[in-house]
Amino acid sequence: MKIVLIGFMGSGKSAVAKALSEQLGIAWMEMDQLVYQKTKTRSMHEVFALGGEILLRETEIAIAKEYALKQDLIISTGGGVVLNKIILEYFKKQMSRVIFLHTPFEQIAKRLEGDDSRPLFKNLKDAKKLYDFRLPLYLNYADEVIDLGLRSATDIALQIKGSIHGL
Ligand code: S3P
Repeated sequence: MKIVLIGFMGSGKSAVAKALSEQLGIAWMEMDQLVYQKTKTRSMHEVFALGGEILLRETEIAIAKEYALKQDLIISTGGGVVLNKIILEYFKKQMSRVIFLHTPFEQIAKRLEGDDSRPLFKNLKDAKKLYDFRLPLYLNYADEVIDLGLRSATDIALQIKGSIHGL
């Protein structure tokens, strides 16, 4: 199985992917890191400077295509993958479970305060608009929705592990 974690920027996808990888003993990968490798950049600001958001989205599609048939892998996606239906279609091509990590915007805003690494999280007003626009998309693509609340990544990973074993 391939486990695909989706959710807004700063919702905790990477931490959960890492904890889940340790618990299940399978590899995890971070889409943003692959974007950097493929575009020979080191940050999202560099990706945007090089080719704008379109370069990010095209690279994400290429990665999804490349990973479509992979199994025994946890993928921590970038928050914008739900903007391109084709990405989720690639990920769902072979046995997969798409899990939406649902974190309230207020919590995300607190977590990302002072973090200027994300070009699309410039200010709270625009980020909230993006969040409201994307929420139905995450819900639509998810096979499972997990409310993160203030629980630890380990706790969330345990819940996911349990739900997978119950399938
Ligand atoms: C983005 C999310 C980021 C990164 C880029 C754009 C988005 O990933 O791909 O800055 O559009 O939501 P994270 O969700 O890992 O922060």
